[in-house]
Amino acid sequence: MSSFIIRRFNPTTDLNAVQNINRNCLPENYPRFFFTEIYERFPDGFNIAIDETTNEVVAYVMTRIEKGLSNFGFGLCKKGHIISIAVMPQYRRKGLAKKLMLAANHALRLRDVKEVYLEVRESNQAAINLYQQLGYITMKVSKRYYSDGEAALIMVAKI
Ligand SMILES: CC(C)(COP(=O)(O)OP(=O)(O)OC[C@H]1O[C@@H](n2cnc3c(N)ncnc32)[C@H](O)[C@@H]1OP(=O)(O)O)[C@@H](O)C(=O)NCCC(=O)NCCS
Repeated sequence: MSSFIIRRFNPTTDLNAVQNINRNCLPENYPRFFFTEIYERFPDGFNIAIDETTNEVVAYVMTRIEKGLSNFGFGLCKKGHIISIAVMPQYRRKGLAKKLMLAANHALRLRDVKEVYLEVRESNQAAINLYQQLGYITMKVSKRYYSDGEAALIMVAKI
């Protein structure tokens, strides 16, 4: 049985793998500079999972710290934004996304961030379940948020 380690993304060695996972798993794909920019702004918020038996990168999460109005009545504050998370299909349902989300929360809390938000396709029940399990609630629905016309749930959580 495989075991996994969660560690910080390294732009020199991990970028190809992360871009490959992103293209495999999500319709929202980004140019290379986007990944490095996200990393440079908040290195501890960009984490990956590695299969220790093959040394392969199999999942990632990337986050950003933004300033904005609190969804919980804290006024103007720092907010964590989960930009993207994906796990390669053969590695799903092993708790890796949950571990990556918790690693993101940990990194955010160390930067004094107390709430997070994200967008998710309204049809993406797997991801919605994951986020609900982590305490996220739906704050609003943004109609036609995605380029193919699908709506996004904007989900928020205190961390
Ligand atoms: C969504 C995704 C990241 C979940 O990754 P994962 O590593 O399989 O998730 P975990 O194993 O940590 O699952 C944690 C919980 O999420 C929920 N969940 C995950 N996959 C699910 C599925 N296919 N169906 C229903 N619930 C699911 C469950 O509540 C699960 O807990 P459980 O296994 O104890 O029931 C993964 O399916 C994925 O990469 N999907 C494609 C990319 C994507 O949609 N990213 C999110 C964009 S907003």
